[in-house]
Amino acid sequence: MSLKKKIILGLAVILIGIQFFQPLRNQSDEVPATHIEKVYSVPQNVNAILAQSCYDCHSNNTSYPWYSRIQPGAWYLAEHIKKGKEELNFSEFGEYSARKQRSKLRAMSGQIKDGEMPLSSYTLIHRNAILSEEDKQILMKWFGAMEDSIK
Ligand code: HEC
Repeated sequence: MSLKKKIILGLAVILIGIQFFQPLRNQSDEVPATHIEKVYSVPQNVNAILAQSCYDCHSNNTSYPWYSRIQPGAWYLAEHIKKGKEELNFSEFGEYSARKQRSKLRAMSGQIKDGEMPLSSYTLIHRNAILSEEDKQILMKWFGAMEDSIK
């Protein structure tokens, strides 16, 4: 066997091998009492956009497409979920202090305005998570109104 073939074979073995090491899934059956939907009345259209574009990395419940099981992508996503939830977790929004809620709402508007969120490495594959101009306006308007209403 030539060296090139050995290398290709070696890589194939590694690629198959890592498929058996799946990260823990970020999934839960219940919507906790601290979820933003339970704490505030989130309009249907706003909630639909958040669920589509943000909840995968910023809640305790990721909806995994079939290809999310393929390594090393699954690790990459798991890492984003871990970091994303540390920064902002909609499932725990109700536990945040009023001050933190306001600052997170402000940060959300900022991230959307700058086109930073959802992460482009994610929308590259999750095309349906891309925010339209209209989606952005709906979200920013609601984030702004919420920020003003939380005392
Ligand atoms: C693919 C995963 C992913 C998706 C989807 C995603 N985020 Fe993030 N988000 C992250 C990660 C990871 C961070 C941590 C900082 C970083 O890496 O940029 C973050 C950080 C943030 C922050 C910064 C928090 C702070 O206090 O500064 C905000 C706000 C935010 N995201 C809002 C959103 C919103 C709103 C959406 C939906 C429109 C969204 N994100 C979608 C992964 C994601």
